[in-house]
Amino acid sequence: MANAPVKIIIPCCTLMSKSNNVLLVTNVSKRCLSSWWSQVEMGPPDAILGVTEAYKRDTNPKKINLGVGAYRDDNGKPYVLPSVLKAEQKIKEKNMDHEYAPISGSADFCNLSIKLALGDDSTHVKEGLNATVQGISGTGSLRIGGAFLAKFFPYNKELYLPTPSWGNHNPIFLHSGLKVNKYRYYDPNTCGFDFKGALEDINKIPEQSIILLHACAHNPTGVDPRPEQWQELSQVIKKRKLFPFFDMAYQGFASGDVVKDAFAVRLFLKEGHQIALAQSFAKNMGLYGERAGVFSLITSSKDEAARTLSQIKILIRPMYSNPPIHGARVVAEILGDPALRQQWLGEVKGMADRIISVRTSLKDNLKKEGSTKDWSHITDQIGMFCYTGLQPAQVERLTKDFSIYLTKDGRISMAGVTSKNVEYLAHSIHQVTK
Ligand code: LMR
Repeated sequence: MANAPVKIIIPCCTLMSKSNNVLLVTNVSKRCLSSWWSQVEMGPPDAILGVTEAYKRDTNPKKINLGVGAYRDDNGKPYVLPSVLKAEQKIKEKNMDHEYAPISGSADFCNLSIKLALGDDSTHVKEGLNATVQGISGTGSLRIGGAFLAKFFPYNKELYLPTPSWGNHNPIFLHSGLKVNKYRYYDPNTCGFDFKGALEDINKIPEQSIILLHACAHNPTGVDPRPEQWQELSQVIKKRKLFPFFDMAYQGFASGDVVKDAFAVRLFLKEGHQIALAQSFAKNMGLYGERAGVFSLITSSKDEAARTLSQIKILIRPMYSNPPIHGARVVAEILGDPALRQQWLGEVKGMADRIISVRTSLKDNLKKEGSTKDWSHITDQIGMFCYTGLQPAQVERLTKDFSIYLTKDGRISMAGVTSKNVEYLAHSIHQVTK
């Protein structure tokens, strides 16, 4: 009895030398050495952000990154907006503290942001119908919306995405607990909007489901409905009793005009829809890493707004407690100061205009290279992306032979095209498409 092994529980990987315990310790340490995580398989790189990782590893001086949608100036450098620098200076002078933000974020930021989306004279805002919270940029704001709908949407907890949609939409809403489905959106034959297909599919979506709409500058296709098509979409969506969830990550970035880019959102509200809305200031203020975003529900009464807001806060608290403060302060300084706001509007237009002009330049250079293909979709499409129509094998060749990095679906971030690299890009595209 005295020599019987003593069964003890020891912390993982603790080595013991007492002779009575040798056998037991060896077994435990074997299990520890093979680790708790030996069954975890290597995951694939992210379809969009993984492209940047591969680009960084490439040593070719001619390499171009057209993967992630992040604005670059004509020298290919990240652009810090002068209005942002001014706002940061003002914040510094205020000597502000670093206390926690409320769960719903900065109230000033939320009010100014929702007014930017719905208009300064929005009756919805004036009547207090919006439940608005600060989110962790566009992704986090969509995720809050997903969590709220998964818990409180009273009918069919299924969300319909356009085909194709931003690569992160599907995982965000699946992760939120919604079922995700699709409706037709892009026509590969015309590289444009499949309006007929979209109407047909939307007409078949089960009543009282959720439909996701890109407010402007559709990602990845750069294909937006025209105003009269939005009007018709609104009617069909109303007829099918669908709940519209707008993703507005590019306000101002599509046309250069924040009012024009908010057309669809404002139209749907005018038409009597209740909507959910996710906003992001990553692109239009160049605040990518600051993660300044907004989630809003536009409800039917002030009381409903208060009730839904209380529940959204309960969902946020265990996810990340409360949002970061710096980016929200910058946005609030810019939107809340008439002169700074005016300056910012000019800078957004400057970014949008550079992208529009580089589209023309790419199309012209392809023609100069001798390409006889129809590249009119490069200038017809709008916003940060061009859905080139390049096939996966052509994309692979572009990357392998020319060090041009883009997502496998043939999407290129026009923001990465400059007057210095556009000829090389056109040459390379011609080589893989001729
Ligand atoms: C993109 O589509 O490239 C951007 O929205 C960045 C991202 O997070 O995917």
